[in-house]
Amino acid sequence: MTQIAPETTEVGLPITEVDTPALYVDLDALEHNIATMARVCADHGVAWRPHVKASKSPDLARRLIAGGATGITCAKVSEAEVMADGGVDDILIANEVVGPRKVGRLVDLARRARICVAVDDERNLREISAAVSAAGATVDVLLDINVGANRCGVTPEVAPALAQLALDLPGVAFRGLMGYEGHVMGVTDPEEKEAKSAAAADVFAQARRQVETAGIEVRVMSGGGTGNYWIASRLGSLNELQAGGGVLLDQTYEGPMTGPGPRQALFLVAQVISTAVPGRAVADAGWKASGQHTGRPLAVDPPGIRVRNLNAEHTLFDLDEGVRLELGQRVTMVPHYSDSTVLLHRRMYAVRNGIVEEVWPVAGAGMLQ
Ligand SMILES: Cc1ncc(COP(=O)(O)O)c(C=O)c1O
Repeated sequence: MTQIAPETTEVGLPITEVDTPALYVDLDALEHNIATMARVCADHGVAWRPHVKASKSPDLARRLIAGGATGITCAKVSEAEVMADGGVDDILIANEVVGPRKVGRLVDLARRARICVAVDDERNLREISAAVSAAGATVDVLLDINVGANRCGVTPEVAPALAQLALDLPGVAFRGLMGYEGHVMGVTDPEEKEAKSAAAADVFAQARRQVETAGIEVRVMSGGGTGNYWIASRLGSLNELQAGGGVLLDQTYEGPMTGPGPRQALFLVAQVISTAVPGRAVADAGWKASGQHTGRPLAVDPPGIRVRNLNAEHTLFDLDEGVRLELGQRVTMVPHYSDSTVLLHRRMYAVRNGIVEEVWPVAGAGMLQ
């Protein structure tokens, strides 16, 4: 268990008595979501390696693994470091790790966990190989393929030469291919989402064919996200799914961004600090507690209130006719996008039936390097 001091005294308290703003995870919903995503993967014979860039908590990551994940996916080396510190020992950094400082940290990490990293450049591959082999360690690599997002990743034609280089160089072990269908995640029209996922799956398949035609074994085909995992898992191109944020299910991931089944699991509790303006109430959680780059949080309790605006430290609510809030009254909201909310907090409360069961450090907050 990751160390956290005096807040552990909050274990056993109703979440409504914890100081505000308080970010909490509903454990029943989280467990339901983990089981749902794990089942979708299992039903299609696909391994689940959920991304933890949204949840940022080693405690939550260990629950993902207990729930069927084969390991986790991280965005950054520093994020992977705190996950390794928290006892996670199988980590994919699904991003390019470039430069001596970062590669040095990657080497240190490889000494204490099974590490795989994305690569899309020959010089970078050589840089990683030199540093890792000098340290007598091994890092697995996945070649990053551009499957349509035009972010990182090479074209399928380039893959065989890079794969061969990864096979030939010391210190690195070629594991397979990855890609991220980032351009598909926000698509709301089901037919368009299906078509774009299928087009990305074709690029995955083409890259695999090219590498295998060169006589190189591809063990892992990794990709997918919360916005298309239920489609990507059945298209046959992938055998590892990176979808992870859906276990928290915020407003962004709900509905068109998410396959069937999951429930909202992440909530922000604030406290009313002013009712001085008629028809309004003001609570003590602004955009510093909720984030707002994709939108505002949704008030879910009590009924009859709507988020009108966010200031840095204030939420302004409009009240329906006849609704009154009292000073100190708790208001529960669903964040708009967990990716921009969780990282603002030092801890998340793990709550069941309204009672705090555990306090989880958000150890990955600020881990951007
Ligand atoms: C490389 C990579 N894999 C997977 C994902 C999907 O993550 P999530 O399911 O949390 O949206 C992302 C999201 O940005 C990503 O960048």
